[in-house]
Amino acid sequence: MKKKLMITALLLVAALVLVACTQKAPESTATPAPVVTEAPAATEAPAATDAPAAEATEAAPAEEAALELTLEELAKFNGKDGARAYVAVDGIIYDVTDSAFWKDGAHNGFEAGKDLTAEIKEKSPHGVAKLENVKEIGKLVTE
Ligand code: HEM
Repeated sequence: MKKKLMITALLLVAALVLVACTQKAPESTATPAPVVTEAPAATEAPAATDAPAAEATEAAPAEEAALELTLEELAKFNGKDGARAYVAVDGIIYDVTDSAFWKDGAHNGFEAGKDLTAEIKEKSPHGVAKLENVKEIGKLVTE
């Protein structure tokens, strides 16, 4: 009887060891699996950082090109009768409405609503540097 018990006990232990081994096997194949999924994740990460970078570079020019005026359209923005005061220099339109030096669109004998590229460069004592004090709002276009 004791022998039979010992044999069944040994068989049970053997069966348990077998079960344990067969359970470990799938585990060991499962471990490399996450490593494989980690690799695509790592390649996806730079791709994701590339996308916002491209968006950022696209957004900047879109903002700059917000307003486009021809010389004829610019003339309306002369700062008179409640109109805003814009001036163009080197193809860029600046808003001088809120400048204390450009009251009602007038400044030292010059008027807003015009392309003053030559005037600011050749006649003003300050040159184009003063344009840093006012806001760029658009572009001067030919048509
Ligand atoms: C005889 C010609 C001109 C004279 C004597 C003159 C003089 C001045 C002076 C004294 C200032 C203030 C400087 C300061 O203290 O910050 C100023 C500012 C300015 N000027 Fe002229 N200017 C002349 C022509 C022009 C022209 C043709 C433009 C064309 C766009 C211009 C655009 C500006 C701008 C944008 C400012 C800055 C305004 C601000 O800071 O709010 N100026 N100018």
